[in-house]
Amino acid sequence: MSAWAKHKIFETNPIILLLGSLVVISIGGIVEIVPLFYLKNTIEAVDGVRPYTPLELAGRNIYVREGCYNCHSQMIRSLRDEVERYGHYSLAAESMYDRPFQWGSKRTGPDLARVGGKYSDTWHVDHLNAPASVVPATIMPAYPWLAETELDLRHISEDLKVQQMLGVPYTDEMIEHAAQDAVTQGTLDPAEGDNLLARYPNANIRNFTGNPTATGRLSEADALIAYLQSLGTAIDFNLYDDSANIR
Ligand code: HEC
Repeated sequence: MSAWAKHKIFETNPIILLLGSLVVISIGGIVEIVPLFYLKNTIEAVDGVRPYTPLELAGRNIYVREGCYNCHSQMIRSLRDEVERYGHYSLAAESMYDRPFQWGSKRTGPDLARVGGKYSDTWHVDHLNAPASVVPATIMPAYPWLAETELDLRHISEDLKVQQMLGVPYTDEMIEHAAQDAVTQGTLDPAEGDNLLARYPNANIRNFTGNPTATGRLSEADALIAYLQSLGTAIDFNLYDDSANIR
């Protein structure tokens, strides 16, 4: 069979052409993508980046549940206007424990990748309850139920376990103490605080809403604010060479 005759099989039969294209494209895809899963340096480890505390993880789940990502991205691009507005551009390592990641694709509101520490806890409480009370022109919806709803910690150990299965380095000890750690972080239980910090260095330990629910337990707002206040605070960029910063 001549080369032309072989080619004709593909050119005259759409199904065979389609299958042939798929085979060729798959080979290209495998060659490009598979090595990334095995290279150790795909994501450079950076000092200070640790898995979320159980309370932050619970807050992150609420962030996802409420669809905050529909209006907020969490990825500062390496462009001057972004860096001047939001701070140092995001590093891959900063979302290495985000499963699923929250980079987002739409900014109806500002990027939140470095919102941690930008506002006080009280500001966040007011902003979530009634955004217009602190930013009059805002179009962000209110989430008043978060402060009134008791945080459900019954499945927090399982949540950590799932993250562990996905590759986040939670230890069995962290999983076992997850519910207690969440309460410790949000209520500033002095007896347990050191254990929490040993497991999660630099965690913010305090009563985030200052206003426990009627039952004296944590509210969903406590978890969400703990999460927001942790965003983008892991890395101390002053430790690194200034030339790494495009400013
Ligand atoms: C309909 C779009 C929309 C949704 C959904 C939304 N936001 Fe916003 N958000 C905004 C807008 C617009 C702003 C800017 C004005 C303001 O501060 O209220 C904002 C501002 C913020 C800010 C202040 C950021 C800064 O740097 O000033 C935070 C924090 C925030 N939102 C958190 C959340 C959280 C948490 C959720 C989910 C519970 C959420 N947002 C859902 C639109 C939205």
